[in-house]
Amino acid sequence: MAGRSVWPLYVEISNAGKATFWLCATSMVFLLYHLHYSCTMSVAAAITSRLALRSGDQMPMVGFGTCCRRSATGAQLIRSIHTYLTLGGRLIDTAQAYKNHKDIRIALRASLSIPRHDMWVTTKIMSIKQLERNGYNTTGYPTDSRAAATHAVRVSMSELGLDYIDLVLFHNPAGLDPDEQAKVWSGLIDAKLCNLSRNIGVSNFDLSGIRMLENATSFRPEAIQINFHPWVGPQILHLVAWCQAHGVVVTAYRSIKASFNLNANLSSLAALSQRFGASQAQILLKWAIDQRVAVIPGATSAKHIREILFMPTFHLDDTDLRLLQTS
Ligand SMILES: NC(=O)c1ccc[n+]([C@@H]2O[C@H](COP(=O)([O-])OP(=O)(O)OC[C@H]3O[C@@H](n4cnc5c(N)ncnc54)[C@H](OP(=O)(O)O)[C@@H]3O)[C@@H](O)[C@H]2O)c1
Repeated sequence: MAGRSVWPLYVEISNAGKATFWLCATSMVFLLYHLHYSCTMSVAAAITSRLALRSGDQMPMVGFGTCCRRSATGAQLIRSIHTYLTLGGRLIDTAQAYKNHKDIRIALRASLSIPRHDMWVTTKIMSIKQLERNGYNTTGYPTDSRAAATHAVRVSMSELGLDYIDLVLFHNPAGLDPDEQAKVWSGLIDAKLCNLSRNIGVSNFDLSGIRMLENATSFRPEAIQINFHPWVGPQILHLVAWCQAHGVVVTAYRSIKASFNLNANLSSLAALSQRFGASQAQILLKWAIDQRVAVIPGATSAKHIREILFMPTFHLDDTDLRLLQTS
């Protein structure tokens, strides 16, 4: 795929041909439906806000997650990404660990012509030690952890069919000593310097981990992705505040799912949902967005994807934010 060129709409004659053809054929129907819906119903515009990273790049605030549900691979994923992009979404969140880079490549190629610079793809890599421990095929990987991390970015680019990635995150420090973590981080810095990834960051790190990486390399992560929802503890709230004060853009995962298995009383969520005429999922996403935190909800149905992108216009003030946190 050419650097900043326009993604073509074409029918790929390959194993993916069926899915691609299906998408092309349904695009027009879907657009007509969307046009009709937008003209006849009073709906808010899709959320297109972006957050500026230290590089100056602007990351969309409402992305699309591609993990942790049955519909996160294969034809269902391709179809749901197509729906998300058609409705105006522009950020796809994936990871080496999700094993769906190739599906995402098909979805991106089959989608409407979107200028590359409008799109945003985030992926996450693991250290060579984590790949080996988890039985990944590491053929062609260097044994050196730093070089292996840069190589993982090249592999991801090839699988995704991209000639650069917008944001690559070090997925998880679990089971790695600080020295190994610093090597992986150095490999990501190399990837940034070679323009393989425009921005680099971490996921599931705490504040001491971020400081350690910065002390070891003199380069602070530009972004972080964490489990963030109204029921996180003070340590995470402090981490978010620190990141925002130090030029580290924050993305939340588990925004919606966190409420599924909660024994906590969700009456405040229900009350806010009623007051603002928004679904509970929309209130939970807005809880993060109104704190300048990006979200990457995963969804399968067009109804859910529409809800993620099109919210009634409302703002949660400090009292509302606290109300949810204490419920
Ligand atoms: N960095 C990390 O370590 C990490 C860890 C986990 C996840 N992630 C990323 O974060 C993304 C988000 O995943 P998550 O696991 O945190 O889950 P989530 O986005 O909090 O929740 C996903 C669930 O919410 C449902 N949903 C979506 N829209 C809805 C709506 N409008 N109303 C009601 N339900 C709705 C979906 O159902 P349907 O599928 O039926 O629509 C799905 O079951 C992942 O896909 C992945 O990209 C990152």
